[in-house]
Amino acid sequence: MANGPLVLGIETSCDETGVGIVRGSTLLADEVASSIDEHARFGGVVPEIASRAHLEAMVPTIERACRVAKVKLSDVDAIAVTGGPGLVGALLVGTASAKALALALDVPLFAVNHLAGHIVVDELEHGPLPDSVIGLLVSGGHSSLIQLTGSDFHALGATLDDAAGEAFDKVARLLGLPFPGGPWIDQLAQSGDGAAIAFPRGLTSPHEGEVNRLNFSFSGLKTAVARWVKQQEQAGNAVSIPDVAASFQEAVVDVLTQKAFAACQETGIDHLVIGGGVAANSRLRALALERAARLGISVRIPRPGLCTDNGAMIAALGSRLLMSGATPSDLSFSTTSVLPIETVVLNGLG
Ligand code: KG4
Ligand code: ZN
Repeated sequence: MANGPLVLGIETSCDETGVGIVRGSTLLADEVASSIDEHARFGGVVPEIASRAHLEAMVPTIERACRVAKVKLSDVDAIAVTGGPGLVGALLVGTASAKALALALDVPLFAVNHLAGHIVVDELEHGPLPDSVIGLLVSGGHSSLIQLTGSDFHALGATLDDAAGEAFDKVARLLGLPFPGGPWIDQLAQSGDGAAIAFPRGLTSPHEGEVNRLNFSFSGLKTAVARWVKQQEQAGNAVSIPDVAASFQEAVVDVLTQKAFAACQETGIDHLVIGGGVAANSRLRALALERAARLGISVRIPRPGLCTDNGAMIAALGSRLLMSGATPSDLSFSTTSVLPIETVVLNGLG
């Protein structure tokens, strides 16, 4: 029998309405309603469509999560909700729902940082994180290297332009694949050769200097793929989409793992946790494990369903905060599209 507080987490930062329920650090329910099919024909997430879909999905998803967890709302000890970063209209649906629930149930509310959720969600699957750990967060909106020490999150590096997932989505689009492109590239790459085309590894040359050592850049890679495909077509050469997908993917995961392990070595922290939608990528998972074994670093990656956006990660973070005695958010807090990783919980205006 699991013990600890019962926490319900709500995630609405993008196109997934996620409701997770945890007891302590035990996952009881993780229900997700996605509006991705409604965005596919636009080639990206349309904020207004996402907000409306959250509003429609919110109550049914909460009810489903309670059913799966076999709990009643009146049993819940605290609510956690994504306060940012994300699409403001989408975040407003989640935060307004969470405020209403917290008021009605008279329980504390934690408005939390989505990015921190992507890191701590691994505790639901692999147990408590070590006191010091490096987090590689790779999603549709972010690519960051984060140091987590105790309960303090600190940014070590981030992308200067496109996020890793955004690069996957843009390259998929130019290859004529559906949105979101990451899973398609992952799948096609299985039958391609990752060494077929030598695409650039952004910000890895020694000439880059110290300042960008732990930063990322993927927009040059995206342009290089577009240029290569165009040149082949103009020369009348057949283009192997699986080879392009595999070679592009190899360039991304090579850089991500190089920099993540460089962060471990520089800080002397020999634990790495990878989170965010791109952490579902099979080649990233394999290469990270392979390089970690060689370097003597331990790597933790949650199962793919916990890598992409979900409510369980928000519940996990809320529960961790509650158990560590953190101060809940004042209900006057607002949502924010940009939120540095250092701010784990939003405070109110009051
Ligand atoms: O974390 P997430 O669900 O949402 C954000 O917070 O952005 O990440 C979504 C991103 C998308 O760009 C999607 O293409 C990418 O994660 N993604 C993948 C894979 N599965 C999802 N990228 C590469 N390989 C995958 N298997
Ligand atoms: Zn995310």
